[in-house]
Amino acid sequence: MCNRLQVRGNGPIYARLQLQGSKNGTLPCMAAALLHSGTTVLEGVPMIADVLTAAEILRSLGASVHIRDHCITIQAGQLTASDIPRDFMGRMRSSVIFMGALLARCGETGAVSPGGCVIGRRPIDYHLDGFRQMGASVVQKDDRMEVKGRKLKGCVIVLPGPSVGATENLMLASTAAEGITIIRNAAREPEITELAQCLRNMGFGIYGDGTSEIVIRGCNETVDSVYSIPGDRIAAGTWLLCCMQNRGELVLDYAPVESMAAVLQVVQRMGGEIHTEKNRITLKAPDRLKPIDYLETAPYPGFPTDMQSLLLPVLCRAEGSSCIRERVFSSRFRTVGELEKMGADICITDGGQCARIRGGCRLHGTSVDAPDLRGGAALIIAALGAEGITVINDTCHIQRGYEQIPETIRLLGGEACWLS
Ligand code: UD1
Repeated sequence: MCNRLQVRGNGPIYARLQLQGSKNGTLPCMAAALLHSGTTVLEGVPMIADVLTAAEILRSLGASVHIRDHCITIQAGQLTASDIPRDFMGRMRSSVIFMGALLARCGETGAVSPGGCVIGRRPIDYHLDGFRQMGASVVQKDDRMEVKGRKLKGCVIVLPGPSVGATENLMLASTAAEGITIIRNAAREPEITELAQCLRNMGFGIYGDGTSEIVIRGCNETVDSVYSIPGDRIAAGTWLLCCMQNRGELVLDYAPVESMAAVLQVVQRMGGEIHTEKNRITLKAPDRLKPIDYLETAPYPGFPTDMQSLLLPVLCRAEGSSCIRERVFSSRFRTVGELEKMGADICITDGGQCARIRGGCRLHGTSVDAPDLRGGAALIIAALGAEGITVINDTCHIQRGYEQIPETIRLLGGEACWLS
């Protein structure tokens, strides 16, 4: 059910936060638990709606799932189904990564097509072509996909683009393939390395993760394992940008420092002073923010597409004009209309791919609608820096990826409460 959140900022932020575990790292590891008939434990898991949806998917397949204190214990001894129920595919697009694990474990899987999405066309042709290359049959009828392959064969798969989801799905499926599978032009995102480490702990041979060529060797005897999920790099970026917008100083503990170079560089370009230790980032925000003349999103290690909406409200306060080009998804500036209601001056050009932000304005509170997960989080940043009170509707999108939202806003010095 969607909630409404009332937010008011209170000027400079002086705070220390413990980051939540990575959302995009947790979901594929939960799918990986299906590959082992014993116990898989994931620690440091964020308590967010997407994780609860993934737990429901596992239960619907017959696995038992216990969640306690950010720790999930999954036992996938006997599975009772190999189809992902329709409702989950609609609720969370990344439900699709359960297909690779189910194909490996059960020799078949089915689901409705995830279809389009509010951030643009999101086909899964790379995933399905990869399954076919391993010898599976893929039948698509109306909105349903059926994949069957009891004897998958290792092969060389060259992805047309470095898709994160396709790389994960094919890594999961290929654990059951005979021989060795090589994925070329693989995604290099840290979440791929997280899945690879989780699979290694279970006994699989995974090599080359973090590079564009990943090698997967299956194994007959998987073992019980425990994997600790690292901190969420996008949540880290979200709270750093809150501080940049409001001024002040912020310390983030449990931060995945190494995977945040591109984001930290942008914070520094705007005038932020960054100090990093092993798992900690300290930011001292400047009084006057510099604009970003040009920035484009790119696959890792480039500037993440998930961070671009979050940057928009901050650049509204910078002294000068900025430009961000979206190069990963086809339409990801839906939050601009909501920021305009708060007084932002942003022009979308180049067929929806480029946002030109005229800085130097102070946003004002009003009623806005969260359009998607990161676009919604951008509205929290905007609300914390705005004059007056902001009411954010449709926060179910934000709750998919962020835990303890009002509590975190209060730790940042703002005021926040749920409205009925
Ligand atoms: C994941 C992340 C998402 C992030 C994105 C890019 C999760 C749960 N989600 O999404 O937060 O924004 O990576 O970093 O981890 N594509 C195709 N065909 C395919 C697959 C992808 O054309 O079969 C295209 C997409 O339309 C998009 C691009 O490839 O333009 C990248 O998408 P992809 O990396 O697959 O994103 P997701 O895995 O869905």
